[in-house]
Amino acid sequence: MLKSLFRILVGIVLLNQCFWFSVNGDWVTCSGIVPMWHRNDVISINDFGGVGDGRTINTNAFREAIYRIEHLRRRGGTLLYIPPGVYLTESFTLTSHMTLYLSKGAVIRATQDTSIWPLIPPLPSYGRGRELPGPRYRSFIHGEGLRDVIITGENGTIDGQGDVWWNMWRQKTLKFTRPNLIELMNSKNIIISNVIFQNSPFWNIHPVYCSNVVIRYVTILAPYDSPNTDGIDPDSSSQVCIEDSYIATGDDLVAVKSGWDEYGIQYGRKSSGITIRRVTGSSPFAGIAIGSETSGGVENVFAEHINIFNTGIGIHVKTNSGRGGTIRNITMSNVYMENVRTGIRILGDVGDHPDNGYNANALPVVKGVTLKNIWGVNVQQPGMIHGIKDSPFRGICLSSINLHGVPGKGGGPWKCSDVSGSALQVIPWPCAELTSPHGVGSCSNSI
Ligand SMILES: *[C@@H]1O[C@H](CO)[C@@H](O)[C@H](O)[C@H]1NC(C)=O
Ligand SMILES: *[C@@H]1O[C@H](CO)[C@@H](O)[C@H](O)[C@H]1NC(C)=O
Repeated sequence: MLKSLFRILVGIVLLNQCFWFSVNGDWVTCSGIVPMWHRNDVISINDFGGVGDGRTINTNAFREAIYRIEHLRRRGGTLLYIPPGVYLTESFTLTSHMTLYLSKGAVIRATQDTSIWPLIPPLPSYGRGRELPGPRYRSFIHGEGLRDVIITGENGTIDGQGDVWWNMWRQKTLKFTRPNLIELMNSKNIIISNVIFQNSPFWNIHPVYCSNVVIRYVTILAPYDSPNTDGIDPDSSSQVCIEDSYIATGDDLVAVKSGWDEYGIQYGRKSSGITIRRVTGSSPFAGIAIGSETSGGVENVFAEHINIFNTGIGIHVKTNSGRGGTIRNITMSNVYMENVRTGIRILGDVGDHPDNGYNANALPVVKGVTLKNIWGVNVQQPGMIHGIKDSPFRGICLSSINLHGVPGKGGGPWKCSDVSGSALQVIPWPCAELTSPHGVGSCSNSI
């Protein structure tokens, strides 16, 4: 009797501990945001004539397999299995209720025939292609208006073979905006996990107008000098959770966006509820970025346990006059950075305009940015925060930040203007704008 009572007590204590860890510790994960369906219906790309020899073009095999999933509509959805091998294909589109499963050793590789690559209209929140006016090339793997899509497997590879596109960009011979590796538009309940993405022509993973998106255990690789190969760009999307991933590319590792100037203001769709945790990587640009396209607004972003190496800017919040949009309630904590040019940069004059139709009076609002527990080594410039004269940034709250300079040279001073907020235990000591008593008051009330 006593013995079993003791067992029950121990059980309760252990249960409580697990609960505590799952709420407060490293054990918090994205799982649960989107159900991970098990699919009973399984088909293989090889059943549709797929050949993984690295030379055969498999566009029809993908089209027919996905057509079968869409039109047969098996209860519980269908898993499309990609066996080991290199499956060369043109751009293709996914359908709802499917799992794209890349086995160990499976590679889905994009063709390099840019002349027959399909074009699609610009995103309404951008008004034009991001790089060039007019339409844009469809992403290599594309989806629109989908529900319940899983891209997973045993760390197979999705290879964009982007070098032809990077060279067209370098030689200025691009006719339209380059394709993303994966773009999902207006879609919901998406999981992308245990996949390697490499050599994207442009941004790697672009969920736009989406909700309930989980991206975890992914590896994203592109050369350090590959142009605009952003890792993950949640764009006008909500409830996006990114975790346990490694990203080393030629541009921002994660950049939260929401549309561009007058088009983004008109479309008015914000990004919110974005969680980023346990992401490691390097890039010549930013580790974790907000912007610079933020015209629909960005709010409730939470990033923690981020490790950034050999990077231009550790944390970068960027917007511009003419952009409009409110950036609020952004928290980043437990960030480690090493060999970075600028540790923290929050700027109000970054990014170009889509055309001359923007409203110069559409001033962005930035309020409630909390950065805490940040440790940096070999940081050339600790921080730079420049708000906008007629829309000063408010509630920029820094605490427990230690950014060591370059050995022998030290780090430069903080630079600030048009900003208020507070600083607590920040080394090197930041600018007067953040350390005045007035600043402290504006910190807690400004979200
Ligand atoms: C795939 O990679 C992730 C890390 O990104 C790792 O945790 C996982 O064990 C790997 N899975 C397999 C099947 O190799
Ligand atoms: C701020 O964002 C967090 C998520 O990071 C959310 O839990 C919280 O409710 C938000 N606070 C406000 C006042 O919106």
